[in-house]
Amino acid sequence: MSARSLPGIGLAVLAIGLILPSCDSSGSRLSFPADFLWGAASSAHQIEGNNTNSDLWDWETRFEERSGLAANSYVLYDQDAELARTLNLDVYRFSIEWARVEPARDTWSDEAIAHYRDVLTSLIRRGIRPAVTLHHFTNPKWIYDIGPDPWESPEMVEEFEEYARRMAHEFGARVDLWMPWNEPNVYAVGAYGLGRFPPGRFGLLSPTEKLVPVVMRNVIEAHIRAYRAIHETDKIDADGDGAAALVGVAQSTMAVEPADPAQPDHVVAADRWARFWNWLFLDAVARGDFDEDLALDEDVDRPDWAGSLDFVGVNYYSRMKVLPQPGLMGPLAVLPCFSDDQVSAVAAVIGTLGCPEPTLEKTDTGWEIYPEGFRDVVLQAWRRYGLPIVVTENGIADAAGDKRASYTLRHLEALHQAMEEGADVRGYWYWSLIDNYEWGSFKPRFGLFRVEYENDFRRVLTPGGEVYAEVAESDSIP
Ligand code: FCB
Repeated sequence: MSARSLPGIGLAVLAIGLILPSCDSSGSRLSFPADFLWGAASSAHQIEGNNTNSDLWDWETRFEERSGLAANSYVLYDQDAELARTLNLDVYRFSIEWARVEPARDTWSDEAIAHYRDVLTSLIRRGIRPAVTLHHFTNPKWIYDIGPDPWESPEMVEEFEEYARRMAHEFGARVDLWMPWNEPNVYAVGAYGLGRFPPGRFGLLSPTEKLVPVVMRNVIEAHIRAYRAIHETDKIDADGDGAAALVGVAQSTMAVEPADPAQPDHVVAADRWARFWNWLFLDAVARGDFDEDLALDEDVDRPDWAGSLDFVGVNYYSRMKVLPQPGLMGPLAVLPCFSDDQVSAVAAVIGTLGCPEPTLEKTDTGWEIYPEGFRDVVLQAWRRYGLPIVVTENGIADAAGDKRASYTLRHLEALHQAMEEGADVRGYWYWSLIDNYEWGSFKPRFGLFRVEYENDFRRVLTPGGEVYAEVAESDSIP
């Protein structure tokens, strides 16, 4: 994100001329800009192991498997940095575990801070830029001293701001790329909407009661306060590209489509769901437009919030088909269908939900493979905000290892198309560098490296990882 590190439509549009991707002279490869940021991503709870002080640790007893030592990366982080180097990556996105650095309220752990400093150093000395997430689904246990539903309390906004400020202070000399939140929509809905993460509430049934106006509002405010705290604190340009800090978000996006495009009420339902799922958080922090009552108006009711985002991080995996369903999810009145194996199992039990059968090839998690939707979502995000885009996650659960290369190449081709149509995309970070704990199970294997859990956590390059290393080296795809 070097010379083009400042956001803003004007600059970004000017920059398009410089970054348009193209075919090379032989016509056989699609090329990306030379300064395109190739990367891979991970998160603390999923790889570090022994994350005992986080709120998910005890909660995991409800899941199929517990995280235990995960991929043992708290110990093997230097090896992981070396893996990233062998893949020719420019960036490694990982998360700091809040529960480790602030094990008790307002008490900071020198040891954990020193650990993350070592992690950063091990990347930087290999020429890899760190991109740091501050919240990737887990919280310190002490937040429940605030109350049984901590993110319903504005105290969490204060706590999060303090945490972000402290991290910027500790690591600002080494980090320029920050994401306070990973998938704020998945977190808020998972923890306060669908009962999947602690504290396990079911607010999605009536989202305008607490989920959106209270929890989402606090999550949004926490981002905005973190955005400001990081910019106030991190004044050091670690990678020498002219920007001391760029603060974005890794937003979970889906290709959202009407179950039956010929039916106008399906089209309306899909639009409502897309605004809620893909754009609610981004509209608030980028434009100051917070649709708290889900009335789908464009009121800019918080102009002071606008501009609290330097880049849009797009996490993209699959698509959703949406049906109208009066009575479901308050004013949204929709039934979103997602071909996840777990969700489908629930749907099978309930029986008559009316979701269309998935028609596309699926991954090991049952997610339909849909690169066209990736192009669409990236273009939509670009047109909606005019901010630089980074693909902060995209990848496949593929235990056999025979689909990853083609999945990745097809998605990169779709991304290339979005760039040709004008989207200012600065990087692509594959999820994930190594296999890890997928929120309840080790079965889904997303890694560019396979982890042999029974064999001292040995990391083994997958065929997809081999292909990705070539892409990163040549800035092009076949
Ligand atoms: C995303 C999460 C990430 C991982 C991938 C597969 O929603 O951010 O932690 O679970 O999905």
